[in-house]
Amino acid sequence: MNILVLGSGGREHALAWKIAQSPKTDKLFIAPGNAGTAQTGENVNIKADDFESIKEFVLGNNIGMVVVGPEDPLVKGIYDYFEQDSRLCHIPVIGPSKAGAQLEGSKDFAKAFMMRHHIPTARYKSFSAETLEDGFAFLETLGAPYVLKADGLAAGKGVLIIDNLDEAKKELENMLQGKFGAAGNTVVIEEYLDGIECSVFVLTDGNSYKILPVAKDYKRISEGNTGLNTGGMGAVSPVPFADETFMQKVEERIIRPTIDGLKKEHLTYKGFIFLGLINVKGEPMVIEYNCRMGDPETEVVMLRIKSDLVDLLEGVAEGNLAERVLEEDPRSAVTIMLVSGGYPEAYEKGKVMTGFDKVLPENILFHAGTVSDGKNILTNGGRVIAVSSYGKDKEDALAKSFEGAKAIEFEKKYFRKDIGFDV
Ligand code: AMP
Ligand code: GLY
Repeated sequence: MNILVLGSGGREHALAWKIAQSPKTDKLFIAPGNAGTAQTGENVNIKADDFESIKEFVLGNNIGMVVVGPEDPLVKGIYDYFEQDSRLCHIPVIGPSKAGAQLEGSKDFAKAFMMRHHIPTARYKSFSAETLEDGFAFLETLGAPYVLKADGLAAGKGVLIIDNLDEAKKELENMLQGKFGAAGNTVVIEEYLDGIECSVFVLTDGNSYKILPVAKDYKRISEGNTGLNTGGMGAVSPVPFADETFMQKVEERIIRPTIDGLKKEHLTYKGFIFLGLINVKGEPMVIEYNCRMGDPETEVVMLRIKSDLVDLLEGVAEGNLAERVLEEDPRSAVTIMLVSGGYPEAYEKGKVMTGFDKVLPENILFHAGTVSDGKNILTNGGRVIAVSSYGKDKEDALAKSFEGAKAIEFEKKYFRKDIGFDV
């Protein structure tokens, strides 16, 4: 089968790396991809949300499955676009329908969904410009810090955590006046939860599900989890506190009610569900849903899936996932993200990358923001490349990834040296 992966980051390179290992894969294409995916399959110069061009490419290249990396095309309805087209409807898209993707596309929808299905999450209320005064009153009932979330997609920047009540009120007003554009027309205010986070990934065909290896990402730019939020500076899998007892609670209280809820509400969902969880004194609660895999979590999760991913995805497409086998690799995996100096604020692109010949043979490189000029590989984003490794334990995997992270060179390279320190 020919497979098309949509997206261009480290997550998509990791998905492509795993898909390429399957004997079921004939030709693998990545649109638009990066310099790393070009070594795993064939890049196609089409944007992940350009549905018309994707259609033309899929029909012209006998594509048998489309695997969607980022949330944007899913929230915009790529699943429905294929389903409603007589020439595309037999080609499976791995991902939820537009209605199912609201779990990520609208935080207000996601919170209301969790309330309807009694899924543990922070207490909340939603507000619009018309109910600003009620928002102020609700903030006064909460203690600091205050959590404000733009309802819609805001490129990962739509969540504010504020220590001071007056400032929280001011930010609520700013958000409702368009600070995040239309994404902030509705703002969710919720109770702050104190605990340690982890990412649980579920693959579902809409009926049954498989729980993929659990991971933890490191979102802050600086060591000790300090500084500005980023797209993710590294990840580890497994996560020691996500033990059998914890995961049993996750499955009973969160995963099953989520899958049952989607079914009951006729929200078509055939893809990955990303549960952003927080462990509050041993009790799992949902911070957010995403309708895709995480980045950089995918750069460790793919290492820890022993089974053929394409076989599992076929199970999703055919609705017989329950008959497929998911086997985990018992080893640990750690990834370290190398980023451009200045990220997540202003940074430069186009720096020549070297040292690819000096990394350890055990390092697995997933390109995030890179481009080839035909001669060299150049940086092309804030997050540049993820260095993943297996290890007998977290420390062993981290030490190997650290060696690889040191070996790759580009001007103003930065990475965190403490990934995994807190678990
Ligand atoms: P989200 O985009 O919803 O994942 O929020 C971004 C980050 O904000 C999360 O990964 C958490 O670290 C933090 N966060 C969101 N909601 C809460 C909450 N209710 N309590 C504490 N931290 C939160
Ligand atoms: N690593 C978090 C995310 O992908 O949203």
